[in-house]
Amino acid sequence: MSPITPMAGPRCFFYLLLLVCTQYTLAAFPQNVPIGAIFSKESREETTAFRNRLDMLNKAKDASFKIVSDTKLVDTSSSFNMVNAVCSQIKRGSGGVYAIFGMYDMPALDAIQAYSRNLQVSFITPSYPPAYDKRSDFVVYMRPNLARPVVDLINKVYKWDSFTYIYDDDEGLATLEQVMDLVQMKDTEVIARKLGGADNANATITTIDGEGERRVIIDLDRRTTEVFMKKIKERNMWTSYYHYIFMNLDFHLLNKANLTYGQAKVTSFQIVDPLRGDGKDFQKIGKNIGFKAALSYDAAGIISSAFNSLKQDRTDINLSDDTSPACEKGDNIWRFGDRIRSSLQKVKTMGVTGWIQFDRFGQRENYTVHSLELQRRLMVPVWRWRNSKLTKVEVNIPRPSTKPPALGDRVLRVTTIFESPYLMNKSDEEIAKCPPGRSTCQYEGYAVDMLEKIAAIVNFTYKIHIVADGKYGSENETTGKWNGMVGELIEGKADLAIAPLTITLVRERVIDFSKPYMSTGISIMIKKPQKSKPGVFSFLDPLAYEIWMCILFAYIGVSVVLFLVSRFSPYEWHPAESCGVGSAEEEQTNDFGIWNSLWFSLGAFMQQGCDISPRSISGRIVGGVWWFFTLIIISSYTANLAAFLTVERMVTPIESADDLAKQTEIRYGTVKAGSTEAFFKSSTIPVYQKMWNFMSKAEPSPLMDSNTKGITHVRESKGKYAFLLESAMNDYIAQRKPCDTIKAGSNLDSKGYGIGMPKESPYRHKITLAVLKLREDGVLQNLENTWWYDKGQCGPVESTKKGETSALSLSNVAGVFYILVGGLGLAMMAALLEFCYKSKVEANKSKVKARMSVKGENGRVPSPTDPFPKSMSSVPITRPSGVSLYEMTYT
Ligand SMILES: *[C@@H]1O[C@H](CO)[C@@H](O)[C@H](O)[C@H]1NC(C)=O
Ligand SMILES: *[C@@H]1O[C@H](CO)[C@@H](O)[C@H](O)[C@H]1NC(C)=O
Ligand SMILES: *[C@@H]1O[C@H](CO)[C@@H](O)[C@H](O)[C@H]1NC(C)=O
Ligand SMILES: *[C@@H]1O[C@H](CO)[C@@H](O)[C@H](O)[C@H]1NC(C)=O
Ligand SMILES: *[C@@H]1O[C@H](CO)[C@@H](O)[C@H](O)[C@H]1NC(C)=O
Ligand SMILES: *[C@@H]1O[C@H](CO)[C@@H](O)[C@H](O)[C@H]1NC(C)=O
Ligand SMILES: *[C@@H]1O[C@H](CO)[C@@H](O)[C@H](O)[C@H]1NC(C)=O
Repeated sequence: MSPITPMAGPRCFFYLLLLVCTQYTLAAFPQNVPIGAIFSKESREETTAFRNRLDMLNKAKDASFKIVSDTKLVDTSSSFNMVNAVCSQIKRGSGGVYAIFGMYDMPALDAIQAYSRNLQVSFITPSYPPAYDKRSDFVVYMRPNLARPVVDLINKVYKWDSFTYIYDDDEGLATLEQVMDLVQMKDTEVIARKLGGADNANATITTIDGEGERRVIIDLDRRTTEVFMKKIKERNMWTSYYHYIFMNLDFHLLNKANLTYGQAKVTSFQIVDPLRGDGKDFQKIGKNIGFKAALSYDAAGIISSAFNSLKQDRTDINLSDDTSPACEKGDNIWRFGDRIRSSLQKVKTMGVTGWIQFDRFGQRENYTVHSLELQRRLMVPVWRWRNSKLTKVEVNIPRPSTKPPALGDRVLRVTTIFESPYLMNKSDEEIAKCPPGRSTCQYEGYAVDMLEKIAAIVNFTYKIHIVADGKYGSENETTGKWNGMVGELIEGKADLAIAPLTITLVRERVIDFSKPYMSTGISIMIKKPQKSKPGVFSFLDPLAYEIWMCILFAYIGVSVVLFLVSRFSPYEWHPAESCGVGSAEEEQTNDFGIWNSLWFSLGAFMQQGCDISPRSISGRIVGGVWWFFTLIIISSYTANLAAFLTVERMVTPIESADDLAKQTEIRYGTVKAGSTEAFFKSSTIPVYQKMWNFMSKAEPSPLMDSNTKGITHVRESKGKYAFLLESAMNDYIAQRKPCDTIKAGSNLDSKGYGIGMPKESPYRHKITLAVLKLREDGVLQNLENTWWYDKGQCGPVESTKKGETSALSLSNVAGVFYILVGGLGLAMMAALLEFCYKSKVEANKSKVKARMSVKGENGRVPSPTDPFPKSMSSVPITRPSGVSLYEMTYT
């Protein structure tokens, strides 16, 4: 390579020249404008696009000159070959070329820059532009810089604080350097990884996965990008944990058949406006051209515009041997070079790659970059970047998900889990009868039957497999990865998860669910209580304890009141039937002493008669209400007794969560780290908080490792352990031998089991419709009956409700007691009235009598005006004979 001295381009010379030319040129513009064109052997597309555009321009009606290109195919990665090509272009024939369009690879960039500057020949290129500090004036770069849009997107939209940058060649390295410069101030951590060839993709991907890097920028050429994507897919990294940014501007041309729905987040860039694909430009060159071809196509337009404006300015650019540049001449300054360069750089036009405009270093400015994201299997334009401004693009993309890819043709992979009665192994004899090749035949259960019915409605074929790790799916909080069936859906290893998979918020964030096919909730499992035979004292059962007590008090009360009113009421006194009938001193007696009162009440209560009965109105009132009371109580007792003596009752100690929380004798727990535990942990309801307090603190811990262990514990703990689990399971276990558990009370919460699908699954809608149809047609209920009860081993469910034969409570019979008390009050008032009335009558009588007997008898005549005696036992009662009663009482 010959040494090249830098040109000393004095500006005044240029202006002088310009002045001279505009003044004195007449028709010095050539008919044919020769252009050099350097392509690599692989760039057939670019060559075609460039040539086609030149042809179009030359054939245009208003074309006043022709651009003639001289194409050379060289190895663009070698500086030597490139320089040779440039020099031979310049030397060609007598005239040489006015400018060169060409491509280079990064190693040749320095040589190209140096030669174009020294020879003052403009070099127009769709190849990779150098960093800002390595620019040169005579190269016009068609390709816009991508580092700024990417960094703006990362900083402003995705707000990444760290990412991995994968590159392989010098172009990638150059972009990486610019990206690093731009993100430096933001404190973003960048992990740069050089791929080192497509064969190394495995190793790099393994490292990324191992290091937990989830945000990856991939800056590789088209072929390597394709390989890389395939490897990512193979390693199951095409999942929603990852976000990939593809820097290759030809991403839209890659085969994206393997971009499956609902998985990794993908961003790509495009300079050809993705929404402007139907313009007339594209009709000539085809819509799906690579970005370099598009740039070549635009470059031809730029060259044409530049020379047009030179012609309009009547610039003399007649080439002759002495004025044309040549490599050998060394420091020779070509007098047209600067003018052509500035004309090229001044072009402003709309091309297929958007608005074209250059800064004074020949780099694109004021350009637009479109950023696309993967949505529903399509790359959809989302952001438009222009001059460091990001604008959201609003597009209505036709939803491809409404037409899922040939559902009938694809075999859906269904993941499930062994869980009775959803999925169970068939017995060996039955499996032996299976036709070969049917994956479902070895299993049976609710889920299998439901899957069969859904598949018949939606019309798809499927293959069942058991989830590898035997888990339902929870998130690993350190890595953010999901395991179990949820993990398989996320990683694209399964299309459906048909199992008792609870629909929860966290799961719904990462996968899609159908509408619930079964509703369930947390319930209590206890050991079935022994049926109690009627006990020795079961005759007491029909009435509640407090009724018995009330009856006892009522009995005593009534007896006492009866005794009192009998004392008060004068009608209760009658002459004693003594032997001395004719005796003058007639004895007055009262049948209702305290013992007789008690005896009378008891006799009445026992439905037996009694020799004595009250004579006074008050006493009869007491007797009447007591008989009424007795009638009602005895009838009620008799009615209830029959039920109690004939039914064998099951007494459940626990009826609700409240019952559990109130006591400490029966311990209770749930499965460790399950959704039920989470329910109690996060509950704000005081009862559940109290229960969680007990469960988490009790020693030994009542929390179990699995449902099976919990159930075994319930069975072995003789009723001293209650287990909290989902009701569907509870109901099922209650129907399994040895039939010694039952579900107590109602569910604590309510939730549903749904069919899991990957996010944005195209089948979601159809599956949901099928589930709803099956539910509304009662098919699911039938299936449930079949698998839970028809195949149950314990016979029909026995009721454990207390309500059916419960003891009469006080409130049932309170009315009778009110009547009784009212009656007693009434009796006492009646007794008082009787007493007063009788006293009055007696007083009148005794006045007469006293007058008659005043001479015979001594002693005092009692009068009603006498004060009442203080003692209860000395009730003043006058005898018909007029003898004071005091004497009698004290006798
Ligand atoms: C260009 O210059 C050469 C001699 O310098 C002259 O012969 C030729 O006619 C010129 N061409 C045009 C188009 O003016
Ligand atoms: C790359 O990984 C895939 C699976 O992860 C494996 O099948 C393949 O053989 C690996 N290729 C190389 C070159 O190691
Ligand atoms: C897509 O994936 C399938 C299987 O995983 C593979 O055979 C095919 O080559 C892949 N296509 C592309 C373009 O990577
Ligand atoms: C930037 O491009 C738009 C066309 O997209 C043009 O109208 C505008 O004038 C350009 N701005 C500058 C400063 O040239
Ligand atoms: C189900 O899909 C298969 C394959 O696409 C098709 O041949 C068949 O007719 C479909 N059956 C119904 C009932 O739609
Ligand atoms: C079901 O059968 C398979 C083998 O056919 C066995 O590996 C698996 O453990 C069995 N599962 C249950 C729950 O019995
Ligand atoms: C989460 O994943 C890490 C790494 O794979 C593992 O060491 C850890 O045990 C997991 N944590 C849980 C709770 O599974």
